[in-house]
Amino acid sequence: MRAGVTVGALFDEAAEGYDRARRQLVPPFDDFYGTAVESIPHERDEVIRVLDLGAGTGLLSALVARAFPRARITLVDVSPEMLGVARRRFADEPERFELRVVDYAREPLPGEYEVVVSALSIHHLGGTGKRELFRKIYGVLCDGGVFVNVDQVLGSTPEIEACYREAWLRQVRERGVGEEVLAAALARMEEDQMSTLEEQKAWLEEAGFRQVDCPYKNYSFAVYGGRKRV
Ligand SMILES: C[S@@+](CC[C@H](N)C(=O)[O-])C[C@H]1O[C@@H](n2cnc3c(N)ncnc32)[C@H](O)[C@@H]1O
Repeated sequence: MRAGVTVGALFDEAAEGYDRARRQLVPPFDDFYGTAVESIPHERDEVIRVLDLGAGTGLLSALVARAFPRARITLVDVSPEMLGVARRRFADEPERFELRVVDYAREPLPGEYEVVVSALSIHHLGGTGKRELFRKIYGVLCDGGVFVNVDQVLGSTPEIEACYREAWLRQVRERGVGEEVLAAALARMEEDQMSTLEEQKAWLEEAGFRQVDCPYKNYSFAVYGGRKRV
């Protein structure tokens, strides 16, 4: 972490331009986020309570809300600016969306949920932080509840990690990402604390999750999670 710079402050700086760059910076965006939504094991018309951790500007929440029109979604983020963008996005349906400034690494998680989701956020925590957070997530899920994490994972060897990084750089450049946007993304990535998929699956099981699985993976982009006692 750069001296005096927090993850929240980094995303505060990035909030306004964030949505514009997202699809370019996440080459498999549609399949990646789409698989996460598809893997939520509920009927589309069910009333479900959903918690989105590190919800940012509300991209994943918006996709969940569209697929599950009766879902009530709590968006949690440490950056008030990112949540400010989400507040404007969901201004027409304030009763469905609750927005809370919470540091999920340091504070308790609010509420009880059928579904906890997260996208591209938990990789900001180191291994110990991830293990603790997986336990906290387990604690706020009701029986049978699911956790779906849409995140980046570390390659399981340095060679595999180098291949992931090369593929990402090639793909984003092919999509025409400008060097300024790329430099800002690379600066944010310096704060990442990536863990391998294998480690994280083991930590999920250690937290009590069953049916731990990874239904989607494209280089470093993976959708993985598990279910609480079924
Ligand atoms: C790359 S953005 C992803 C936002 C959104 N989930 C998406 O898919 O577009 C990561 C978000 O995680 C938030 N975040 C990082 N660490 C956090 C923490 N400890 N508690 C709450 N939010 C956190 C950041 O503020 C940022 O909004």
